[in-house]
Amino acid sequence: MSLPATSKVPFGGDYNPEQWPEDVWKEDHRLFDLARIDTVTLGVFDWALTQPAEDVYDFALLDRIVELAGAQRRGICLATGTGAHPPWLAKAHPEVTRTDFEGRRHRYGQRHNSCPSSPVFRRLSTELARRVARRYAGHPAVVAWHVGNEYGGACYCDLCAAGFRAWLRRRYGTLDQLNAAWYTTFWSHTFTDWDQIEPPSALTEHWRGPDHTAFPGITLDYLRFTSDAMLTNFRDEKAAIREASPDLPVTTNFMGMYRPVDYHRWAEHLDFASWDNYPPDDSSAARMALTHDLMRGLKDGQPFWLMEQTPSVTACRDVNPVKRPGLMRLWSWQAVAHGADAVLFFQLRASRGACEKYHGAVIGHAGRSDTRVFREVAELGAELDRLGDASLGARTPARVALLFDWDSWWALEISDGPSRLVRYQQVVLAYHRALWDAGVDLDVVAVTADLSRYDVVVAPALHMLKGDLPQRLEAVAARGGSVLTTYLSGRVDENDNAFLMDVPGPLGQLMGVRVDEWDAREPAVVNPVRLGAGPDQVEVGSRLLFELVVAQGAEVVGTYRADFYAGTPAVTRNAFGAGHGWYVAAGLDQAGVRWVVRRVLARHDLLGPYPDVPDLESAVRVAPDGTRLLFLLNHRAEPVEVTARTGGVDLLTGDRVPPGGPLRLPERGVVVLREDR
Ligand code: GLA
Ligand code: ZN
Repeated sequence: MSLPATSKVPFGGDYNPEQWPEDVWKEDHRLFDLARIDTVTLGVFDWALTQPAEDVYDFALLDRIVELAGAQRRGICLATGTGAHPPWLAKAHPEVTRTDFEGRRHRYGQRHNSCPSSPVFRRLSTELARRVARRYAGHPAVVAWHVGNEYGGACYCDLCAAGFRAWLRRRYGTLDQLNAAWYTTFWSHTFTDWDQIEPPSALTEHWRGPDHTAFPGITLDYLRFTSDAMLTNFRDEKAAIREASPDLPVTTNFMGMYRPVDYHRWAEHLDFASWDNYPPDDSSAARMALTHDLMRGLKDGQPFWLMEQTPSVTACRDVNPVKRPGLMRLWSWQAVAHGADAVLFFQLRASRGACEKYHGAVIGHAGRSDTRVFREVAELGAELDRLGDASLGARTPARVALLFDWDSWWALEISDGPSRLVRYQQVVLAYHRALWDAGVDLDVVAVTADLSRYDVVVAPALHMLKGDLPQRLEAVAARGGSVLTTYLSGRVDENDNAFLMDVPGPLGQLMGVRVDEWDAREPAVVNPVRLGAGPDQVEVGSRLLFELVVAQGAEVVGTYRADFYAGTPAVTRNAFGAGHGWYVAAGLDQAGVRWVVRRVLARHDLLGPYPDVPDLESAVRVAPDGTRLLFLLNHRAEPVEVTARTGGVDLLTGDRVPPGGPLRLPERGVVVLREDR
């Protein structure tokens, strides 16, 4: 099963009419029509409404909300409502609340607050999902199921401790295996009974917070367990939905690059992926592109739904800037360019009270349609109508893969040494930005993905090597491809134990280097790196981490210029089979990363159409019938003009563009060119 069947890109979002009087609902729908809103996500936080007491279910109000939405021809993404549990549940069964990292058992409050291991929570959340599905599965307006909401956090209660031990028994079978994996001879930790095992927290293995642990192996397994425990909750609800609804797709809204949950471990259990896009600031274009690609990569390139974005402002940040005119539209098209087959907002009408009352909405407290935000939403709605089904199911023709690995992320960031300042996301973002700048269509994939379809594989900070990944990377190079990896790669096995061989471990043959030492420095310390030779030579900066490389057959492409390792390799390229292994040993600045990445891409002729126009993003999607859609997104606050490489039709204006003709993009402008065949 895959995405909901729709005839165009669904447009709309979270809608919570249970929060306001019924006479407003009709007005909501009138405004939805004006904005061409055709899809509503209902019931995300309705548990207290639909189950007011343990033995009472009451769907009367939700029935009316669903009926009206259906009568108004809205498609419904219907939530199970288990993202926040009601007060009566916590009072009757205190086990459903979480115990935090400091060991404090929480009392009732907030949301996303349930212990994933609690049998009571599991039973009642599953039962609610079952009843919601049973009641509404036959309703023609329902197009998809939305389980829970933004799964995340962690719990350290006794039920979770017991769940952790059971998870460990399944993973290791025997205590001998567990002791070996966790390297427990260190600091006298040999476990002789499963009951001796504690969740790693401030009360046990940790100091200075969740990233400082005496036993990274234990903490790593607790991260995996926590992700799996919540996945079990999702799967419980999904199975209950399936009983009454065998044919409608099920999702839950992810949060992009969210560290606590390994979305790759979840992906196969979702029918389609969806996510909530709340970028940290308005200069996050590259980061959002990466995140969209990561979400699309979850289901092997299948399109995803943009489940939430704010039309204007967020509320949860210390400072919440408004999206400038045109930005919401630009970012919505960016999502579509990267594989979104739905564009949805949080939220359609603003809450009146509680902590999100200042969160942006399509309809504000005054209920007006003559606001800038409403107008921009309505204009986008009209554009998506015009686009019709052109982009539905379209795929990204990527020949470049960027590897993303939650295990490497966790292992790197809970490690003592070499540097707390090297952050996994920053390294990935730097390499991604260089690819993005070059206009490359790329997939962001798990380390288990099939790599045989890619010419270039970029694996920044691939700290942990699992399974046959080294062989699969070697195979990419052997058949003529390029593999690029960086410092802090090939360091540990899946249990976070070092390889008993030269760094970068099993990547050594492919990279043709050996790393004997590494030097981590404060951010102010810059070691210049000279890249290239002859007239092409450039000097860039590098900082934070400097690995000391001994070439073992690799050609030296860049050298350090300072310190006792001046003149030694900082960047290398190794001929391997018909291709290459590139190793970047230093924390190059963006100019250096760009230089290296463009070298790699140029060899495979993979630069995008406008690689030298800054902040003009390009992305291609290929429709099921083979039609190519070229998306051009001008992220600059000034106009840009380029020449069309191929003729086509701009689907947003209907204008014909001849090959070689001018493509003018105003500030924050968008072109969706259906290329001539
Ligand atoms: C998340 C949640 C929503 C809402 C928004 C606000 O994405 O899923 O319920 O809280 O954030 O930005
Ligand atoms: Zn718990």
